Amino acid sequence: MRNSKTIKAATYDSAGGQSDESSSAIQAILEKSRNAALEFSTRARRMERPFVTLSFAQSLNGSIAARPGEQLILSGADSMIMTHGLRAAHDAILVGIGTILIDNPQLTVRLVEGHSPQPIVIDSRLRFPLNAKLLMNGNKPPWIATSGTAHKTKAESLRRRGARLITLPTGVNGRIKIGPLLKRIRRLGVRSVMVEGGARIISSFLEAGMVDQMVITIAPVFVDGLNAFETYENFKPSAPRLNNIEYHKAGADLILRGDIERP
Ligand SMILES: NC(=O)c1ccc[n+]([C@@H]2O[C@H](COP(=O)([O-])OP(=O)(O)OC[C@H]3O[C@@H](n4cnc5c(N)ncnc54)[C@H](OP(=O)(O)O)[C@@H]3O)[C@@H](O)[C@H]2O)c1
Repeated sequence: MRNSKTIKAATYDSAGGQSDESSSAIQAILEKSRNAALEFSTRARRMERPFVTLSFAQSLNGSIAARPGEQLILSGADSMIMTHGLRAAHDAILVGIGTILIDNPQLTVRLVEGHSPQPIVIDSRLRFPLNAKLLMNGNKPPWIATSGTAHKTKAESLRRRGARLITLPTGVNGRIKIGPLLKRIRRLGVRSVMVEGGARIISSFLEAGMVDQMVITIAPVFVDGLNAFETYENFKPSAPRLNNIEYHKAGADLILRGDIERP
């Protein structure tokens, strides 16, 4: 059945050194993700947007980075394997330009077997560096969601390096509108997307009500840094809640998975 491929089966090499407990946790999270995606595609029959997984790692006190402008590796080895399994299960992976500028990630699947998802970067002003890892040979060239007001020369340079520019409307704050972005990538064949951050992107997807499931890795440390949420103001009066929550242990980390509660 076509819908059952909203999230792909991802295999991982349990000989990678993780404990049986971590292996079962990873297996369970991938299985639940597939079921949630299947339920989504059955409910949203015409599938006008992809299934959206929001996934990030945070400290005990909710920080996702040491402080604005700095990368911090929070996930342990086993949680990283889970993250790569989740990546392999999705058609696309999405981050904001802030994450590209600070972390310069590859966004590929390296720790499990499986295909790397299509990288998508939200970058309204085309601040994307021409020497970013995503533009290196061997990586899938990124799709860049942009406002169209960016400098034409930069746009041309990015295209020459393989990037596909997707022009989208912006809101009053000059940021790319999430709804139209999701509709567009669905039309481009994306049935599931994993949103990995950073803070502003996490907030925007939750505020837009465009998240279906969340997978949060909680590392056993306190970090004085960048909170996972840009602001709580926009969630008032009703902050999002999770349903069908499960808690798994992967190495020293706690992994929480849940479906966003529907009104
Ligand atoms: N722990 C984790 O799991 C994890 C994962 C990823 C990232 N991070 C961390 O997060 C930090 C980066 O977070 P960040 O908040 O600075 O940057 P970000 O969320 O990665 O990107 C935000 C930028 O995207 C652009 N944007 C365009 N439209 C947007 C929209 N609708 N909503 C939100 N942003 C939009 C804006 O720049 P323009 O106005 O120029 O377009 C905005 O400044 C880094 O320190 C990184 O290490 C942590």
